[in-house]
Amino acid sequence: MDVKLIQLSDSHLHEQPGKRLIGIDTDASLRAVVDLAGAEENVNAILATGDLSQDGSLQSYQRFVEFVSPLNVPIHWLPGNHDDVDYFHAPQDGFPLSSRSTLDLGAWRIIMLDSVVPGKDHGKLAQSELDYLADQMQDCDGRHCLVVLHHQPIATGADWLDTMQLYNDGAFFNVIQQYDTVRAVIYGHVHQAFVKDLDGIRFMSVPSTCFQFKPDSVGFALDDALPGYRCLVLKESGSIETEVRRVAEFDLSLDKDVEGY
Ligand SMILES: [Fe+2]
Ligand SMILES: [Fe+2]
Repeated sequence: MDVKLIQLSDSHLHEQPGKRLIGIDTDASLRAVVDLAGAEENVNAILATGDLSQDGSLQSYQRFVEFVSPLNVPIHWLPGNHDDVDYFHAPQDGFPLSSRSTLDLGAWRIIMLDSVVPGKDHGKLAQSELDYLADQMQDCDGRHCLVVLHHQPIATGADWLDTMQLYNDGAFFNVIQQYDTVRAVIYGHVHQAFVKDLDGIRFMSVPSTCFQFKPDSVGFALDDALPGYRCLVLKESGSIETEVRRVAEFDLSLDKDVEGY
C-alpha cells in the first residue's frame, strides 16, 4: 500500500483573524493552499510541521483546524519556534489537535519530534527527544521511517536562516545513522522548498503556506514565490515520490521593508 501525505507548514496564524504578517493575510493564504490541496485524492494524513501559529494562541490553532478540516484527513502536527510546545506533549482543554503519537501507516513509520528551544528561534533536540527517536526506530518492525521536525537539520544555504537551524545536528545524525531504517527527514521553518540526498537519506523542506524566504540569501530576504505544500507518496519499497505544489495566484502584498519577523 502506498501512503500519501500532505505536508503543510508555517501558516503563522494570529489570535486575531485576518491579521497580516509581513503584509500577508496568513488566514487567506492558508485557505488558498488548502483549496489547492483539496484536489488530492486518497490522502492518508496531513503533517503540519510547525509555526502553525505566530503567537501560540488557542484561537489560532482552532482556526487552523477549521481551515484544514474540509480536507477530511487526520491532521498530525508538531511545534515550531512560534508555537506553544505544551500543546504537543499532553492533551489540553480546548486544544483542537492531538498531542504527539507515532504513526504506523502501511510499510512506514512516521516519527514526529519537538525541536523547539522555548524562547529561541534555533532548534535543538532535547535528550528526551533523541531517546524517543531511538526507541521508535529500534522498535519499528522493519518499517521504513520518515522523521519529521520543524528545524532544518542541515544547512539550507541562506546564512541568516542557517543560524537558526538544529544546533545539535551531530547528535541527531548519530541516532538516525544507528539504524538503516530512515529514508527521509522532512521539516519546515525555512519557508522554501529544498531537497538534498545525504548518505542515502533524503532531506526535504516545504514552502510556507504564507510568505517565502529567498534561497541562498546572506541576510533576511523575502521571495516572491507563492504559498504551497508538499505532497509525498511513500512507496512500499521505501522509495518516495514527492512534489511541491503552489497556488496558481495569490496577492501576497509583501511588505518588503520588513527586516525580520
Ligand atoms: Fe515559520
Ligand atoms: Fe520556524
